Amino acid sequence: MKFVLLLALFSIVKGNQIFNKSNDFDIHHYKDVIQSRNFTDKVVLITGSSSGIGEGIAKLFAVLGAKVVVTGRKEADVHKVALELEKLSPYKIKPLEVAADLTESEDINRLVEQTIKTFGKLDVLVNNAGAGKATLIGDPDLLKSWDFTFGIDLRAVVELTHTAVPYLEKTNGTIIDTSSIAGIHPIPGSLAYNCAKAGLNMLAKVLALELGPRDVIQSRNFTDKVVLVTGSSSGIGEGIAKLFAVLGAKVVVTARKEADVHKVALELEKLSPYKIKPLEIVADLTKSEDITRLVDQTIKTFGKLDVLVNNAGGGASTYIWDSGLLAAWDQIFNINLRGVVELIHTAVPHLEKTNGTIIDTSSIAGIAPMSDMLAYSSAKAALTMLAKVLALELGSKGIRVNTLSPGYTEVNSWSFPPELKKLVIKQTPLKRLGEPLDMAKAVAFLASSDADFITGANIVVDGGIIYNLPSE
Ligand SMILES: *[C@@H]1O[C@H](CO)[C@@H](O)[C@H](O)[C@H]1NC(C)=O
Ligand SMILES: *[C@@H]1O[C@H](CO)[C@@H](O)[C@H](O)[C@H]1NC(C)=O
Ligand SMILES: *[C@@H]1O[C@H](CO)[C@@H](O)[C@H](O)[C@H]1NC(C)=O
Ligand SMILES: *[C@@H]1O[C@H](CO)[C@@H](O)[C@H](O)[C@H]1NC(C)=O
Ligand SMILES: *[C@@H]1O[C@H](CO)[C@@H](O)[C@H](O)[C@H]1NC(C)=O
Repeated sequence: MKFVLLLALFSIVKGNQIFNKSNDFDIHHYKDVIQSRNFTDKVVLITGSSSGIGEGIAKLFAVLGAKVVVTGRKEADVHKVALELEKLSPYKIKPLEVAADLTESEDINRLVEQTIKTFGKLDVLVNNAGAGKATLIGDPDLLKSWDFTFGIDLRAVVELTHTAVPYLEKTNGTIIDTSSIAGIHPIPGSLAYNCAKAGLNMLAKVLALELGPRDVIQSRNFTDKVVLVTGSSSGIGEGIAKLFAVLGAKVVVTARKEADVHKVALELEKLSPYKIKPLEIVADLTKSEDITRLVDQTIKTFGKLDVLVNNAGGGASTYIWDSGLLAAWDQIFNINLRGVVELIHTAVPHLEKTNGTIIDTSSIAGIAPMSDMLAYSSAKAALTMLAKVLALELGSKGIRVNTLSPGYTEVNSWSFPPELKKLVIKQTPLKRLGEPLDMAKAVAFLASSDADFITGANIVVDGGIIYNLPSE
């Protein structure tokens, strides 16, 4: 039902084009299928590959161009198969030969170590080795055959997988376990083998859950990421810097006042799981030389830049009849817009190298006009548009650009006069003021791989007040 409705909606917009939408997808994705069984430069380890099914699997991977690790218990058999694989390989690749007993921990360690030492990585692990002795519940030596079967069919697989996972993680690798119909269908006299293979089948399913979505689980892990937050010595910027420190990032703290920058930097160092000392830079973003220095020192200290948060901003009330309007106007535009443009201009070559991302702190004042905020509302509206235009320009360079628009945010206990606070809470659908952490969470989301298809967006974090702003 839902699908029909969606389809109907889409058809209205797109006419009959929906029916051949697939024509619009990149044709290279189709052509890649031809190469999908090309295992050139892939490292494939197959246990029990000196005979039988394992030998067959090893041969096919050799034919498909892979660097194969042949392993079994008998050195002579391993060597015989390895010689055949070398002939089958289109590149005449010599397989790695490892004689190993997978019920021995040291053999498992040696197998993985030699694979990495020889081929530098592991892409595909095929847990094929297995064996079974006939077992009936009444057998006098039942437990002996039970332990033997579980040892090779299940325990060894768990241990080898455990040892190999850190390497498979580096390659987005894959694991294939050879089970048996005995894992699904009970066979009399096959008690241990049936149960071990059933356990093996379930093992793969549980591992699929544990190892599959790691990307998403780790999406807000900013270890080794360099994050520069302007205006980070107080308020929302301080909150953003703190959250990135907690999430493991190397943070650059920058603002105009040295003492405030230092104070926040000390807090971040404590918050960092690695006790990383932030880079402290005192800078005035209305000065070109300060912007250059900020970027240069970031690269000099941390070697790169992954996330640029243009958070510095601010402004006093302005009205069109103000006597000193243009001076205030220029100042507000310089800090909220011109400084951002110049910093992005300076940082883009570095962001390009890391597929970095930019997040600008705008304001709901950039969306909803506020009568006493002539310059500020105009500057923030321009800033929100800036991100959208940059999303177009920088998308092809792998750089995403997004905007955060905070609503009323209480950055300290004196930032709101009590009457205003009461009024704002009353008007806000979520019945509270925003906090720096609310803003930081949105910024961390936009910077994370969870948002890797989001660019040019403006995320409004305001408890919903933009639809219910107090009238004068
Ligand atoms: C979809 O297919 C129809 C009929 O083959 C064709 O006229 C139309 O141009 C196609 N639309 C697109 C977007 O390729
Ligand atoms: C497989 O891929 C390699 C490297 O990408 C390439 O050189 C080779 O020609 C491909 N083999 C086939 C059969 O397409
Ligand atoms: C593994 O996959 C992730 C997410 O798709 C990607 O970001 C990463 O570059 C991949 N790594 C390798 C080595 O292919
Ligand atoms: C974050 O990633 C790093 C390196 O990839 C890893 O060492 C660390 O354990 C991860 N942190 C968390 C909380 O998962
Ligand atoms: C950036 O993204 C491109 C395209 O997705 C990818 O080929 C490249 O390896 C990425 N670079 C880095 C440093 O992640």
